[in-house]
Amino acid sequence: MGCGDFPILRQEVHGQPLCYLDNTATSQKPEAVLAAMDGYYRTTNANIHRGVYQLSEEATRLYEGARARIARFINAPLAREIIYTRNASEAINLVAATWGRANVGPGDAILYTAMEHHSNLVPWQMLAAERGATLRAIPVDAAGRLLLDHLDTLLAGVKIVAVTHMSNVLGTINPLQRIIAAAHRAGALVLVDAAQSVPHLPVDVQALDADFLAFSSHKMLGPTGIGCLYGRRALLEAMPPYQGGGDMIRRVTLDGFTVNDLPWKFEAGTPAIAEAIGLGAAVDYLSALGMDHVHAHEQTIIAYALAQLAGVPGLRVYGPPAAERGGVVAFSLGEIHPHDIASLLDQRGIAIRAGHHCCQPLMDLYDVPALARASFYVYSTPADVDRLVDGLTFVRGVFGA
Ligand SMILES: Cc1ncc(COP(=O)(O)O)c(C=O)c1O
Repeated sequence: MGCGDFPILRQEVHGQPLCYLDNTATSQKPEAVLAAMDGYYRTTNANIHRGVYQLSEEATRLYEGARARIARFINAPLAREIIYTRNASEAINLVAATWGRANVGPGDAILYTAMEHHSNLVPWQMLAAERGATLRAIPVDAAGRLLLDHLDTLLAGVKIVAVTHMSNVLGTINPLQRIIAAAHRAGALVLVDAAQSVPHLPVDVQALDADFLAFSSHKMLGPTGIGCLYGRRALLEAMPPYQGGGDMIRRVTLDGFTVNDLPWKFEAGTPAIAEAIGLGAAVDYLSALGMDHVHAHEQTIIAYALAQLAGVPGLRVYGPPAAERGGVVAFSLGEIHPHDIASLLDQRGIAIRAGHHCCQPLMDLYDVPALARASFYVYSTPADVDRLVDGLTFVRGVFGA
């Protein structure tokens, strides 16, 4: 897996070849994705669904064809169980706002975890405040694993469990099958935040037995502006619509409306057509690589990264050993502020992220305001790790550490 397909990676930053290590935030895009979107605008641009002319029919075919390939990619039984949203955040908000308002009431509980991204915390906090429900969190231990010893107790009275498949800070890959089986035994549904897993691991919604699953295109080689919600057909059919507008209706009168079928019931207004086509091309690209290979590649890189980072004096890695995590590593370096680490690495063409990573409760748990984070993807190489380690030696030198 090389970087030849990714034009952005051919450039220099501050006179050095770009070393892009912020893939957890967003990924770069291969030529195939850029060409699919460019080709759509050059040859096929038209609004979808209601046109009876060739261009519109072709645009509709491309838009719906991408949905079918996305469904196969995560082994969803039906293409209509894939709802296009703006991103993973909107997919989670959709479930909280529609299923949540219809099914969660006073005295019910919502269970999430202490390692969730704000996108899988705040929508539930908004729902709980509105409906008088209570919130509970599965704790995280010092090594970055979920503490599941008291899971059955935590599940009492819970209507929905919202859990990340892979932490965007610790890299921890959570034992979802165990959590989902326990939740179902307790009568709760499960929403999986798969923003970090669908891009990096084989994900099979049927094998997981997930009720809902959310992810973003831009983290999996596709464009920004589009993401997906997978939901079981029976659940989606029973849920009220999310937003009102064109396409989500079957019939409108001056007195009211009837809703369209799945998936369009949840897709009000002109959608992100070029972006859906771009995401379809990203799915094709990842499918051709093979998600088993993508995962194996990242495991090799993260094992090498953890071994090399262990040799940097004063560096502390957060999260579990390589075998239990994906290709992301958050760290601190002595007393040096993560923003200083990231700015100094940038001078050497190395792009990492520093901050709270939209996981402030996790930062509170580890009693740090911020961490530095490097994250890898299909085009990352051991040479990128070597540049990071060299760069950190340079940072220590600047601070006399
Ligand atoms: C675990 C996790 N969940 C949710 C999100 C939100 O994704 P988006 O900003 O694309 O909606 C992210 C983004 O970093 C993430 O890492």
